[in-house]
Amino acid sequence: MRSVTSNKPDVAADPRPLRVPVHVGVIMDGNGRWAASRGLPRIEGHRRGLEALRGAVRTAIDFKLDYLTVYSFSMENWSRPVTEVADLMGLLKRFIRNDLADLKKANVKIKVIGRRDDLKPDIRALLQEAETATCGGTGLNLIVAFNYGARQEIAAAARALAEEARSGLIDPADIDEAFFASRLDTAGVPDPDLIIRTSGEQRLSNFLMWQAAYSEFVFLPIHWPDFDRKAFAAAVEEFGARERRFGGVTPAATASAART
Ligand code: IPE
Ligand code: IPE
Ligand code: MG
Repeated sequence: MRSVTSNKPDVAADPRPLRVPVHVGVIMDGNGRWAASRGLPRIEGHRRGLEALRGAVRTAIDFKLDYLTVYSFSMENWSRPVTEVADLMGLLKRFIRNDLADLKKANVKIKVIGRRDDLKPDIRALLQEAETATCGGTGLNLIVAFNYGARQEIAAAARALAEEARSGLIDPADIDEAFFASRLDTAGVPDPDLIIRTSGEQRLSNFLMWQAAYSEFVFLPIHWPDFDRKAFAAAVEEFGARERRFGGVTPAATASAART
């Protein structure tokens, strides 16, 4: 795999399309509808969604992706019925308790993004344990967006920078995009090259809004529990066929401009 990150592409120096995504984000949507269409309770859709997540991690490892970010629970998901929220919290616990050892063995490094303060102490402890236990991983970086919201993340970064400026630690004039990004939860992580959303919805729903500035989007009509290796491969293939420009011009346009 070519070692590229999408943050600072030098299109002029390397005009080839970036065929293999370094970082893929997935908005795992449609569990409820998957269940409803089978006459099952929503929790069954979430359970099957967890299976699909396990499969997606295996596929990401096989595809040698560097980063996989999975949107597991949004800050707005608290507005769901308390029983469903409890089910989702229970599934996160089950995922970490059951899968942590295997993930560690597979050399996965886990990072959690989102607000931890609102979570119960046992969940916070498990998230911490997942990060600590896998901190030496040199394979896939699995980023779990849990109780995550992009607007809240951006507001928190602005607040942190304002505090630093107020205490004289930084000069507001020094705040540029890179400095700002260094205060986001994803500091040090390359922006997602590809964002996949299942369920047919075509929106971000408050996922990685800063980081997605130049991401390619693939919206799949299938629900998350049906997201398998084939669907993942098709999305990566579609990404490979896209032409990323980052505001520049296509290589073909450059060549024809040179001829005229
Ligand atoms: C995604 O599936 C899981 C979470 C948001 C946690 P949904 O629960 O949103 O399923 P639909 O969109 O209602 O079908
Ligand atoms: C986005 O899905 C959040 C996750 C997948 C965790 P939602 O189902 O919450 O999004 P909306 O409400 O359809 O926009
Ligand atoms: Mg949904």
